[in-house]
Amino acid sequence: MAGRRDGLLTRDKGQSPRGSRIAVAIVIGVLFGCVFAVFYPHGLFSSDSLIQSRRIDKSDVQIGSSSCELPERINILKSDIQSLLEKNAELNKQVKGLTENLRLAEQGKDNAQKQFLVLGEKHKAGPFGTVKGLRTNPTVIPDESANPRLAKILEEVAIQKEIIVALANSNVKSMLEVWFTSIKNVGIPNYLVVALDDHIEEFCKSNDVPVYKRDPDKGIDSIAQTGGNHAVSGLKFRILREFLQLGYSVLLSDVDIVYLQNPFDYIYRDSDVESMTDGHNNMTAYGYNDVFDEPAMGWARYAHTMRIWVYNSGFFYIRPTLPSIELLDRVAGRLSREPKSWDQAVFNEELFYPSHPGYDGLHAAKRTMDYYLFMNSKVLFKTVRKDAKLKKLKPVIVHVNYHPDKLPRMKAVVEFYVNGKQDALERFPDGSQW
Ligand SMILES: *[C@@H]1O[C@H](CO)[C@@H](O)[C@H](O)[C@H]1NC(C)=O
Repeated sequence: MAGRRDGLLTRDKGQSPRGSRIAVAIVIGVLFGCVFAVFYPHGLFSSDSLIQSRRIDKSDVQIGSSSCELPERINILKSDIQSLLEKNAELNKQVKGLTENLRLAEQGKDNAQKQFLVLGEKHKAGPFGTVKGLRTNPTVIPDESANPRLAKILEEVAIQKEIIVALANSNVKSMLEVWFTSIKNVGIPNYLVVALDDHIEEFCKSNDVPVYKRDPDKGIDSIAQTGGNHAVSGLKFRILREFLQLGYSVLLSDVDIVYLQNPFDYIYRDSDVESMTDGHNNMTAYGYNDVFDEPAMGWARYAHTMRIWVYNSGFFYIRPTLPSIELLDRVAGRLSREPKSWDQAVFNEELFYPSHPGYDGLHAAKRTMDYYLFMNSKVLFKTVRKDAKLKKLKPVIVHVNYHPDKLPRMKAVVEFYVNGKQDALERFPDGSQW
């Protein structure tokens, strides 16, 4: 700044024609006034902060020496800058607060982040319409120490690390017979009965059915021998866990099921859990928007809700992944803590309820099986047997889950689909008559 001033002074000392000397002196005086007002609005020795005077220099350079209005404009600019600086300080405070919140949230997310790192590398999002979330989770590393004896059996019986598994005690012996006869009839080799008592083990052996009996010293077996359907259901999830730990995908099957084709030809294998549904049409099986009407709300009387009929926990394909094993643990844990709960309800709640305050939901991928291929007995007896076209389609399995007279209906299914007896299904009512 001193240099500039020197420059002006030097020019002042230079020679100019005599006649215009006075005029020049006046002009120079006025210019001086302007320039000083521009450069030193608070006086020559003002102690304004360095940043402020630098900013003013810049605006001065842009505007040039146009007129003497400059000081006013600069004052306006200065006050603008002052209020901006104040706002900036406030924002900085807010940002600091947000950063702190973010840090805390980040800590909470630590586990999820780790899980994410386990699952895969980070990616940039691709172009519109090309992005897909992770659906097929990686399988766990097989851990043979979970059950070496079972590992050996599975090595012999499973095909491509896949196996049908059913639990059975003597209460369901006659259904079990229809069950494995239908499986043999289709020619499915990779299936296994988990015998819950000696009699069923013998029964399977004598019928050349692959069987596995758990070690009696495993504590949870006491309910197995005497337990009814629901007690056995809780046990089922604990036993299943070992199959998954060993690295096998399991098609868990109740015994009130007739096999008509090989289900492994119809499994997608893209989800943690792929399950047959209790639904009976597209809406109920695959999900729909159920509109709830509350006229008192006037303009907002319609509330939209998401609905889906439950997955059938008696027939599902489960891949050996962390979310799958977590699901089994959650269900088994809740069934032991809440003995009155129904395993199918618990299974669905754990699968579908989202995370919310006080609750971390399961992050499992789900797929609903085709309800005509993996058919429940409501679909068969209410719809299919009355429809000429649908009657001609051959399901993969039929699950007699909706009817208590299971054995006669299973046998009728075999008669109808295997032996071609066209009227085999007709004598049954649509639903049970209590
Ligand atoms: C049900 O959904 C399937 C596809 O999932 C579709 O092909 C079929 O037309 C639908 N049926 C009805 C009655 O909407």
